[in-house]
Amino acid sequence: MTAPKLVDLTLGQAVFPMSEPMRLAAARAATGDLPARYPDRRGLRRFRAVLAQRHSGPQDSGPQDSRPRHSGPQDDGPQHSGPRQIRPEQVTVTCGATQAIVALLAGLCRPGDRVAIPDPGFPHYRRICRLLGLTPVGYRQPGAGEALEINELGSVLDHHRPAVLLWNSPSNPTGWVATADELRAAAELLRDRPVHVISDEVYEEMVFVGCHRSLTELLPPARASSVHSCSKSLSLAGWRLGYSISDESVAAGCAEAVWTLSMGASTIGQLTAMVGFVDSVTWAAQRRAELQDRCAVLNAALQSLECAIREPHGGCFLWLDARTPQRADELLIRLRDELRVQVMPGRAFGEHGESHLRVSFGATMPDVVEAARRITAATREVSETTPDRSDRATRVTGGAP
Ligand SMILES: Cc1ncc(COP(=O)(O)O)c(C=O)c1O
Repeated sequence: MTAPKLVDLTLGQAVFPMSEPMRLAAARAATGDLPARYPDRRGLRRFRAVLAQRHSGPQDSGPQDSRPRHSGPQDDGPQHSGPRQIRPEQVTVTCGATQAIVALLAGLCRPGDRVAIPDPGFPHYRRICRLLGLTPVGYRQPGAGEALEINELGSVLDHHRPAVLLWNSPSNPTGWVATADELRAAAELLRDRPVHVISDEVYEEMVFVGCHRSLTELLPPARASSVHSCSKSLSLAGWRLGYSISDESVAAGCAEAVWTLSMGASTIGQLTAMVGFVDSVTWAAQRRAELQDRCAVLNAALQSLECAIREPHGGCFLWLDARTPQRADELLIRLRDELRVQVMPGRAFGEHGESHLRVSFGATMPDVVEAARRITAATREVSETTPDRSDRATRVTGGAP
């Protein structure tokens, strides 16, 4: 008998068909008069104008603590009501948020500098630091609904004196979304410390509890940049498009690095994403609602694995605490080899991820349902043959405590 097809729940991409306006824009660009020259190194001016507008908002007094406000299909999208007015000159279009992080770090740091990164956190932060000859130092990333350990962050900054702090809300992998109080406390902490903040906001469109606010709104513009992703916000991961927002002098360094790395970002991608940001609001709300459904289906099935799971406030991951590294490994192997469901080992995200597994609910609904079905069926089988609960836990987890 052939093994069933592997269901891949590893990647942080929310898989959705393109919205109709984006599909039409891509077709128009491909069949029309698409300029075949190298693009402007900072990105198409009209795309940057759309992006600048998207992140500008009326003056206000800073973030209000909106929790427990739930985003949902009735919403127009995440709140970008920050006090800033962004100009197109502050925006640099990049090949994905990944390149935005590389380009910003290349412009802001010298080899040997330290960079504070969340742990657990996006594995590319470490890889990028290594590539650029920078030294990553970890600070604790909270789980969904947990409080940021602000004193620990303070002591990491004071002890290591990093040139840059990478901040990630909503968090990959934990699903934490910073509250207004946490943003204020972090801004207060950063006020007198000479560190540039790169706020990685790629999951800004995937917030389910609370609302997304940027830490950069509370910091002096010269000391804060943000990075954004069309992979996540528009489900265009294969188009490799993202952007950064900085003060103009930092943006100039970022554009210079983008020119060195890739001589700009794809023109057809920019024309397509531009329409996505302007014309796909309903699609974005429907997508967020479906992501919540995918999350609920998987979460219900994963309960049978007897891990601690915090419902994510944002992002597209369930972060399972298996309690020991050994049990995390056993579960990962069992899911992969017996149930043919592939998930990520938590240790890929840093020291604090060791006892965890990360399960993406960005996969299509049929894949999510199939994975949930296999997990539920396997654990039901075990519980039917072993009525004693403690014995069941042993069988399900392969002998872990
Ligand atoms: C936190 C975080 N930042 C950045 C990225 C990279 O995004 P992009 O595809 O736009 O390069 C990812 C991708 O998974 C991510 O999880």
